[in-house]
Amino acid sequence: MSNSNDLASGIASRGNLARMSGKDLFAKANAWTLTDEARAMGMYPFFRPLDFNDGPEAVLEGKRVVMFGSNNYLGLTTHPKVRERAIDAIRKFGPSMTGSRLVNGSMKLHHVFEEQLAAFMNKESALVFTTGYQVNLATIQAMLSNKKSVAVVDKQVHASIYDGIRLAQSNGAQLVRFHHNNPADLEKRLAALQEDEGALVITDGVFSTEGEIADLKGMSAASKKYGYRIMVDDAHGLGVLGEKGRGTADSLGVQDDVDLIGGTFSKSLASIGGWLVGPRKVLDYVKHFASSFMFAASCPPPSVAAAMAAFEVMQEETWRMDKVRDNARYMRDELRKMGFETGPTETAIVPIFVRQDLTTIAMWKALLEDHAVYVNPFISPGVPPKGALLRTSYMATHEKHHLDRGLEAFRAVGKQFGLIS
Ligand SMILES: Cc1ncc(COP(=O)(O)O)c(C=O)c1O
Repeated sequence: MSNSNDLASGIASRGNLARMSGKDLFAKANAWTLTDEARAMGMYPFFRPLDFNDGPEAVLEGKRVVMFGSNNYLGLTTHPKVRERAIDAIRKFGPSMTGSRLVNGSMKLHHVFEEQLAAFMNKESALVFTTGYQVNLATIQAMLSNKKSVAVVDKQVHASIYDGIRLAQSNGAQLVRFHHNNPADLEKRLAALQEDEGALVITDGVFSTEGEIADLKGMSAASKKYGYRIMVDDAHGLGVLGEKGRGTADSLGVQDDVDLIGGTFSKSLASIGGWLVGPRKVLDYVKHFASSFMFAASCPPPSVAAAMAAFEVMQEETWRMDKVRDNARYMRDELRKMGFETGPTETAIVPIFVRQDLTTIAMWKALLEDHAVYVNPFISPGVPPKGALLRTSYMATHEKHHLDRGLEAFRAVGKQFGLIS
């Protein structure tokens, strides 16, 4: 690659490679040189191994950086209680159940946590999964089981929801997308469905790239009006929004109007795993009709134990929720004052829109190398064309000096690349 324009055109040509045909299916991988070239230029931002992740700071290849690129919203990955419980569980129960929930993979630990999650979320039942990704694959595939089932989704939902829909489409299910965060458009789409069709309305509670809160009041009202069910993926809402961190639906006063709420342990709960709450009979159906749940190993005991401990701390140390909200508000306000475009976020995720893939990567590099500030670049096709951005996210354990250091760096790099004056 001779220059950075080649990098940009390489990024744009990924679609052509995917469509490449021929006898040898590995040929496209051999023709894919972009990553090697970007690495050689020091412009490859992905899969960089961290030496340590201490929460608000991390060590990347020997260099201490301020971490504005994780989903550790409550800062609980370093909490002694969370770490101790994971260690205890690994001593008592081992590293893995080596089997699926359906057969030998369930422990009392999973059941106890399910009872706690259901009670906390004011829903009849809960189910623990191995990842948040699996929650969407499993639930959507099981619920949308034939050609009269329709997934009606916000255009900007998480990839795992689209993948769940792809599985459902193999059952014959249909996909209808409504304009982003637009209940009026949702209502139009629901009104157009046939009398004998069943729809599941699906949205993120907090949109994961841009931090925007879904209009769940409008969406659940539209779903109810037409008699359809609604499911919310609240991966980024739990621990950040609502009373005691109950999430987006609770914060908007529609917890009872949302039929299914799902999420992950990999953000506020400082672990890995997934959760779903809703009617007992529906969860029972998912347990027996979702192949991605039935034929995958269960969430390991230390991961469940860590999430359970984080769940307790989240409810005990409510200052964490206040602090993550305050930190994010401070950064949002200051970045907007500087002239950055941050979109309609009101959560712990604050995007800085750059709207150009190559500039986004160059800014990521300058922030990291010149200012020791870690953020995540989002470029196409991960975001829509002209939607490139630096995704920043904040934690309860960021102190003012971390935030101010970030602001200084954003100001310098924003000016350097002409994003602000
Ligand atoms: C909105 C949303 N749903 C689901 C997931 C998947 O969760 P997990 O990391 O537990 O697989 C993520 C994680 O990136 C997410 O942001």
